[in-house]
Amino acid sequence: MTKKFHLAQYTMLPVTHHSTATWKHPRTMKGGWEFDRPEVWQHVAQVCENAKLDFFFSADTEGVYSDYQNSWRPAVRYAAQVPCFDTGTIMCWLAAATRHIGIVQTVSTAAIPPYLIARRMATFDHLSRGRAGINIVTAFHKNATRNLSLADSYHLQHDNRYDRADEFMEVCYRLWDSWDPDAVVQNVEGDMFADPSKVHAIDFHGEYFQVAGPLNIHRSPQGRPLIVQAGQSKRGTEFAAQHAEAVFSIQRDRQGMKGYYDGLKEEMVRVGRNPDHCKVFFGVQVFVGETTDIAREKAALHNAMVSPEAGLTMLSGHLAHDLAVEDLDAVAAHLKVQGLQGLIDAYRDSGTERDITLRDMARTHGISVSVPQVAGSAAEIADWMADTIDAVGGDGFLLSPAYVPGSIVEFCELVVPELQKRGRVRRGYGDGTLRDNLLAF
Ligand SMILES: Cc1cc2nc3c(=O)[nH]c(=O)nc-3n(C[C@H](O)[C@H](O)[C@H](O)COP(=O)(O)O)c2cc1C
Repeated sequence: MTKKFHLAQYTMLPVTHHSTATWKHPRTMKGGWEFDRPEVWQHVAQVCENAKLDFFFSADTEGVYSDYQNSWRPAVRYAAQVPCFDTGTIMCWLAAATRHIGIVQTVSTAAIPPYLIARRMATFDHLSRGRAGINIVTAFHKNATRNLSLADSYHLQHDNRYDRADEFMEVCYRLWDSWDPDAVVQNVEGDMFADPSKVHAIDFHGEYFQVAGPLNIHRSPQGRPLIVQAGQSKRGTEFAAQHAEAVFSIQRDRQGMKGYYDGLKEEMVRVGRNPDHCKVFFGVQVFVGETTDIAREKAALHNAMVSPEAGLTMLSGHLAHDLAVEDLDAVAAHLKVQGLQGLIDAYRDSGTERDITLRDMARTHGISVSVPQVAGSAAEIADWMADTIDAVGGDGFLLSPAYVPGSIVEFCELVVPELQKRGRVRRGYGDGTLRDNLLAF
């Protein structure tokens, strides 16, 4: 039977996303668009909605990568995910301009107390009519830690960050559940808006958080936002298996994807969850053209615009490790870092790139944050996606844009109809929430 899969749009607003060439690409922001105006992102979200993508996602971080050359200056110079809009703010603009597509924002468990996040997401879920999703992250880099008044040791204690995140989620769940579904009665004769017996304090006393409750917002359409996560390490995968309903993963090839997918689903079974209740999205950067040659030329033009320094800056930031002091011709797989070790492991676990050098890894990282790149005609891209899902068993793809809005529009206009024709992706939304749509297949 033909397996259907899901599509989601990745962004890190407003200029870099995954590619360090996006801001200077000749096709970026053509036609009068400006990257810091909301209209362009509303337009992009509407394009994604017209193509019936499951959700629009925006990543976020609380600082400027400051690892390469032990300075934040290279990150500013090369736009290494700087500037970075506050995701909670921009996503409200996008929700207001759309009706059906899910809207997933990023929340760091180190930045804001869980009570405030539970409020923000309950508000967002009400106002978006059940389309809210939350990507849970733990602030992995040094500059974010320093901006959040945390001790430097915070970002070094990888597994403890997840212990804190577990507790953060527990508080949020209890707050989201603190109003029974039928608590709001609006009984004018009895002078009762909500029935106090159906609203509950939580009186939470944990290691990291003390929260009385109840939430000061009634239960939202989804009860709780869709929980999204992107842990790649053992501890990160345990966290995902416990909490996530969608996960993002960057893997270099099908072998890596299969290893990640099977590992996560096994872990879900181990913790007693139905493995179908968390959808795995693999990152992919697509270049589509009317012919294979046109698509390849597009990819080549883009890749040639990535400077080695930009790649080193972004990779150092993600690894929380200064590559300026490393031998760039050494094999990357040997490096042990405090940051996103999973990025290195993805090469180690791939079938073809085990011996990649740090120099080449940095170049690939500047191109797409190591998300695999696929170039071809719409039919070829559809073939690659369908074959990947059939080989891996995965649930969908997270689309990484190279130039905006162009590459997003091209994917939606050329590849999505091809996938729809083959019965591989949705043709329409159901009446329900983001979660209902995601669990429909
Ligand atoms: C597609 C994708 C998106 C991510 N988005 C963010 C983000 O917005 N903010 C952030 O701090 N980390 C982000 N991360 C990092 C993850 O939250 C996680 O820390 C990382 O994948 C390493 O996994 P680990 O924490 O298990 O070591 C993202 C990772 C991936 C693969």
